[in-house]
Amino acid sequence: MKMRESGMPDETMWEHFFDAPAALKRLGLRADDACVVELGSGYGTFTLPAARMVRGQVLAFDIESDLVALVQRKARAAGLANILCEQRDFVMTGTGVADGAADYVMLFNILHAEQPEVLLREARRILRQGGRLAIMHWNYDASTPRGPSMTIRPQPEQCRMWAEAEGFRLPKPGIINLPPYHYGMVLECP
Ligand SMILES: C[S@@+](CC[C@H](N)C(=O)[O-])C[C@H]1O[C@@H](n2cnc3c(N)ncnc32)[C@H](O)[C@@H]1O
Repeated sequence: MKMRESGMPDETMWEHFFDAPAALKRLGLRADDACVVELGSGYGTFTLPAARMVRGQVLAFDIESDLVALVQRKARAAGLANILCEQRDFVMTGTGVADGAADYVMLFNILHAEQPEVLLREARRILRQGGRLAIMHWNYDASTPRGPSMTIRPQPEQCRMWAEAEGFRLPKPGIINLPPYHYGMVLECP
C-alpha cells in the first residue's frame, strides 16, 4: 500500500533541497556502520551518499519499481557495490531484514504516512540493541517550498512521541536543525 504523497517533485528539484552528506553526518551515520537500512529510498538522494560514507552495506527499499531501477543504475554508475536496492511494500510486508540485523535505519521524509507506527515498529524490530534510528522531515512551517500538507505534516515532538511509544529513546542533543528546510533526530534502540 503506497503511503500518502508528500509532493515529491522531479529529481533535480528534490535533490536541491538537501545537503545529503552533511545531513547524514549530523544524523550520526558512521563509517563503521555495517548494515544501514533505508525505508523509502526515492531517488536515492540519501542512499548513495550513505553508501559512500560507510564501509558496510546499505539496504534500500521502495515500492516504486522505476525508482528502484533508477537507484540501481545510479549505484552502478557510481561504482558503489555496497547498495542493495529492492522493490518492496514495507507497509504490507515489512523489509524482510532479520531481527536485530541493522546498525542504523533511515526514515527520511516519510513519517507523514497514514500509519507511522508501522514504520517505526519495523525499524525497532530490525535494529540491534544500541542501534540508531535517524528521522528527518520537513520543518513544520507552511513556507517550505515543498513537503506534505500541513494537515498531515508531523511536528518534531510528534515524531519523538511516536518513536518513544515504540521503545526508542532520544538522547541529547534531541531535535537537530537541518537547514534550510528540515529537522532530524537520532534515537537509540535500547
Ligand atoms: C517522499 S519520498 C522520500 C524519499 C527519500 N526518503 C528521501 O527523503 O529522499 C517517499 C518514498 O516512499 C516510497 N513509498 C511509499 N509507500 C511505500 C511503501 N508502502 N513501501 C515502500 N516504499 C514506499 C515512495 O515511493 C517514495 O519514493
